[in-house]
Amino acid sequence: MIGEEETVPNQDNVQAGDVTRRVGVEAIRARGVDVDKLIKMLVANAAAEFASTYYYYTILRMHLAGHEDYKEICEDARLEDRAHWELIVPRIYELGGELPNDLREFHDQAGCAAAKLPNPPTAVNILTVLLESERCAIRSWSAICDMTFGKDPRTYDLAARILNEEIEHEAWFIELLAHERDGKSIPSGHFRRGEPGEAPYSKNRRFYNP
Ligand SMILES: [Fe+2]
Ligand SMILES: [Fe+2]
Repeated sequence: MIGEEETVPNQDNVQAGDVTRRVGVEAIRARGVDVDKLIKMLVANAAAEFASTYYYYTILRMHLAGHEDYKEICEDARLEDRAHWELIVPRIYELGGELPNDLREFHDQAGCAAAKLPNPPTAVNILTVLLESERCAIRSWSAICDMTFGKDPRTYDLAARILNEEIEHEAWFIELLAHERDGKSIPSGHFRRGEPGEAPYSKNRRFYNP
């Protein structure tokens, strides 16, 4: 109407200049997100990306010695898990959370079991560990997507990008394990990345689409 100022109503009561509260947090809380629980889940997922997978995949990849093709796929999954860690950590701080100031404590909060080198470290055993780690990742990022869908578009977008790659990783390791263990062909539907750890979703790179 003429003469009336149109402004977005301030329903969160965050006062001008207040640096102790965040409109970005109040807005998602008002939509029903349990922010404290979300932060806890994100820390658990970040710990899984960094400690349960990125770190241990380094060891697993080393022990795929002699299988250059498996090593290469494992390397993509390893570097993409590092990309997931990098992608999600800033969101924890934006939400007002933080990482524990102790690496051991952080490791112990991981939502997935450490992908430790199996004994004996055969290709079949290593691929089985890799497959089950990817499955845990799919379960935990799906839980973040469920919790944030329609309420917290930013966390949802980040989690969905990561989930896209975890689903690809599962398909890769199904293909490799079926081949190595059962002599069966179960195609993953994917070709190798353009360069190691390309992370098309979590780094917003171009997809393999020639
Ligand atoms: Fe990951
Ligand atoms: Fe993964």
